[in-house]
Amino acid sequence: MMQQNLTCCGDPNGTLLDANYWNAQYLSNTTGWDLGMPSPPLVDFINSLDDKKMSVLIPGCGNAYEAEYLLQQGFTNVTLVDISADLVKKLQERFANNANIRVVHGDFFELNGATFDVILEQTFFCALEPFMREIYVQKMNSLLSDQGVLAGLLFNREFEKQGPPFGGNVNQYQQLFVQNGLEILEMELCKNSVAPRANSEVFFIAKRKEGVFEVKNPCCSI
Ligand SMILES: C[S@@+](CC[C@H](N)C(=O)[O-])C[C@H]1O[C@@H](n2cnc3c(N)ncnc32)[C@H](O)[C@@H]1O
Repeated sequence: MMQQNLTCCGDPNGTLLDANYWNAQYLSNTTGWDLGMPSPPLVDFINSLDDKKMSVLIPGCGNAYEAEYLLQQGFTNVTLVDISADLVKKLQERFANNANIRVVHGDFFELNGATFDVILEQTFFCALEPFMREIYVQKMNSLLSDQGVLAGLLFNREFEKQGPPFGGNVNQYQQLFVQNGLEILEMELCKNSVAPRANSEVFFIAKRKEGVFEVKNPCCSI
């Protein structure tokens, strides 16, 4: 079951990037991250997937353009999760009566009870405080099926202003992923980013490392 529980992971610096924060961004339409279309590198990746029955999760889905694209391509098992109540209400209305998609309102870090063949990352990682990154990778690890992959985009740059978005680089991500039980199959500078993100993001695919990974961080019940 999903449940909102942010008590474990509040921002120690002040701003709490919680459900209220994200909901307020949607209500005031301050959604500068919103591309208004599926991201081209993710479209290419989706096009490379043959099995339309794969279970696909999009955490921090926002306006769900990639989900729409998945449905158009015939995918039948898509799950979205987002912490913003107003956004999710709209998505649930938009996808009502479509049995191929499930829209969950809640905290990604409280998602339990299912694993996924594909998890798509798009400006969710960079929306989280950097101190959440280890927990993010560990949570992804726990949500991937045996052959499942986490794929998507990460910024390969820093930002002048305090985030979100929070930046980073390939070296940090490689270390973070490997130390937290994921094997990187691909992590390369993206060649077909949307213009404002050109040369500043990497496309990656990762999967669980062989063997059982023990979660070290006692912060969240993941
Ligand atoms: C920067 S936006 C990106 C939205 C979308 N992925 C896109 O690229 O347009 C980050 C999204 O993550 C959601 N979010 C933030 N923290 C979350 C959490 N702990 N669990 C689920 N969703 C979360 C926000 O509500 C927001 O929709």
